[in-house]
Amino acid sequence: MSIVVYLPNPKTSAKWVTRLQGVLPEAEIVSAHEPFDAQAVTYAAVWQPATGFLAGLPNLKAIISLAAGVDHIAADAELPRHIPVIRTVGTDLTQRMREYVAVQVLNLHRYMPEMQLAAAKAEWKALVAPVAGQRTVGVLGLGNLGAASAALLAQIGFETRGWARSPKTIDGVTCHHGPEGLKAFLEGCEIVVNLLPLTPETHHILNADFFAQLPKGARLLNAARGDHLDEAALLEALESGQIAHAILDAFPLEPLAKDHPFWTHEGVTVTPHIASQVDPETGSHIMAANIAEFEAKGHCKDQADMQRGY
Ligand code: NDP
Ligand code: OXD
Repeated sequence: MSIVVYLPNPKTSAKWVTRLQGVLPEAEIVSAHEPFDAQAVTYAAVWQPATGFLAGLPNLKAIISLAAGVDHIAADAELPRHIPVIRTVGTDLTQRMREYVAVQVLNLHRYMPEMQLAAAKAEWKALVAPVAGQRTVGVLGLGNLGAASAALLAQIGFETRGWARSPKTIDGVTCHHGPEGLKAFLEGCEIVVNLLPLTPETHHILNADFFAQLPKGARLLNAARGDHLDEAALLEALESGQIAHAILDAFPLEPLAKDHPFWTHEGVTVTPHIASQVDPETGSHIMAANIAEFEAKGHCKDQADMQRGY
């Protein structure tokens, strides 16, 4: 078995190669940043592969996303679309996302960005929040990450709702689904958490019409992808006060450009795509297990449906 690892950063690629080699000692594991035999490669483990990189591997059995999302693979205009794509997910990824969502929703709920801004100017600004039970929080996307995050928000005590494509049942969470369920999800939703995959259907879902259906002064946490957000619409909604604050973890181009208005906007908090990630230590074990499952059965439970886009 020959596995090529491609991440844009050669050092990170090398880290994955070392970890994977430790878990799969029999396999030949190479970094795409070193010379390798493209004919021999049967698996490609990738994050944001360069256009045409995967098309240049004629004997691929499967593509492994070094992430939960597969949009970074679907974006390759030359992608060999018949090759299965396997996501790398697991309990660490879910737990990290639960932590991030909890800390940021609590920050938004307790008006922390406003008070931190005041504190930086030595202003004593005491803002008292309602208790969680009087705050409605909604999670877009109820997959591995969204369902676990919504369940945790409900346990904290928030009035919690969720939205997915298909019907769901989650303890303590009012679940809506489909385009017809979005209106009811948005009505009265004071804090929105986005954990959708990026697909043609969800591109720019966080737009002016979406913001207009929220109560005035709603807050946004985008922990999914930058292209879910219509940035101009957010800036307008912040200007009008329709959105009081947005915490954004992902951007169409990362790192976010130094002169991007989000860095200095008082209504925006930027985090550098750290909500959650698969690390090489645990990720290499997950990947080895997925390859073993794929070799044995010809498919894998974590395989994405690339027609659907996630
Ligand atoms: P899953 O594939 O497990 O779940 C996706 C969820 O979104 C499902 O509930 C699905 O509905 C729902 N969904 C998809 N399309 C639509 C639609 N058109 N309308 C309504 N609901 C829809 O994804 P994960 O939970 O594993 O991950 C979600 C995303 O989080 C990733 O794709 C990635 O972009 C992002 N992410 C961000 C990280 C970060 O650090 N910022 C880290 C990890 C992931 P249904 O269940 O009915 O199919
Ligand atoms: C992911 C990510 O999709 O890290 O896993 O963004």
